Amino acid sequence: MDTVVSGIRPTGFLHLGNYFGALRNFIKMQNDNNCFFFIADYHSLTTHPTPADLHTNIKNVLIDYLAAGIDPEKSTIYVQSDVPQVCELTTLLSMNVYVGELQRVASFKEKVRRQPNNVNAGLLNYPVLMAADILLHRADKVPVGKDQEQHLEMTRDFAQRFNHIYGVDYFKLPVAYNFGQQLVKIPGLDGSTKMSKSDNEASCIYLSDEPTVIRKKVMKAVSDSGPTEPNQPKAQAIENLFALMAAVSSPETLAFFEEKYNTCQIRYGDMKKQLAEDIVNFTAPIYERIKELRSNDEYINRVARQGAEKARASADQTVGNVREIIGIKHF
Ligand code: TYM
Repeated sequence: MDTVVSGIRPTGFLHLGNYFGALRNFIKMQNDNNCFFFIADYHSLTTHPTPADLHTNIKNVLIDYLAAGIDPEKSTIYVQSDVPQVCELTTLLSMNVYVGELQRVASFKEKVRRQPNNVNAGLLNYPVLMAADILLHRADKVPVGKDQEQHLEMTRDFAQRFNHIYGVDYFKLPVAYNFGQQLVKIPGLDGSTKMSKSDNEASCIYLSDEPTVIRKKVMKAVSDSGPTEPNQPKAQAIENLFALMAAVSSPETLAFFEEKYNTCQIRYGDMKKQLAEDIVNFTAPIYERIKELRSNDEYINRVARQGAEKARASADQTVGNVREIIGIKHF
């Protein structure tokens, strides 16, 4: 049985990018793998949330997870900071990670560009903490979106380095996973190539958005004045509408609008209306469960506590083994 680990930062509500990038694959794997899904609250501290926001966001993400179909009876679902063993593993791994390689990471360079006044050490060390999350349970597979590919590559590097330095075959080399398919990147409604809350809140559709909000957002999505000749290449914003449609609509609906586009008969208003309805249909059952779970604090608390216990047991074992390999012994 393979071990699967995946995580999500609690920066607000879950959006369709999170769902199609990471969550959907994870949900599909729950029945026949040993699955760990966690809320990466340590990671989210790099952007300095207020204490009140942090806790609310963690709770919202936990609710969204469960509503989307993560089953706490099948998977271990927990909050990262409930398993502080991950910090010890991060420290131990970081002794063999070089500052230069961390400075070259694409996501770090982007943060330096975007938030030059907050280039904290947590940002630099982000990939080591992420590797520790994954190696903590000795994962084989990590269902993630395209944007996490480089972090996974680094996780493999660190794991391999550890095995090599200590002459062991302890860590497996985990792979970014999407059932043999390319990793996905769900685009934004604003014409950007990635749906992302930190880039532009308006680009996102949340699993917890009300139908009226979804319709409004989709109708406002960026488009253009339409093709002027048959089979014209699509502008990015139009590619995005088709990519979203490919994710939520039937193949027939997608083919219908492709045909309209290729024959210059497309009316984006009609396409957006259809897309909005298909998103609403897709999120409706999740949205209903979110509403139910929001009024069930007792259940949410129990899930978090039980998940933490299971995750700590797995983490204790790994950290114990790693200490032994390194030569840290109790007196
Ligand atoms: P985060 O919180 O940015 O995103 C969580 C997951 O959602 C995926 N994702 C997307 N996939 C496709 N299209 C999009 N537009 C899109 N936006 C987000 C991400 O690829 C990710 O899988 N560093 C991670 C969190 C993390 C983690 C881990 C993940 C920490 N430790 C260990 C896996 C394993 C992050 O920032 O993801």
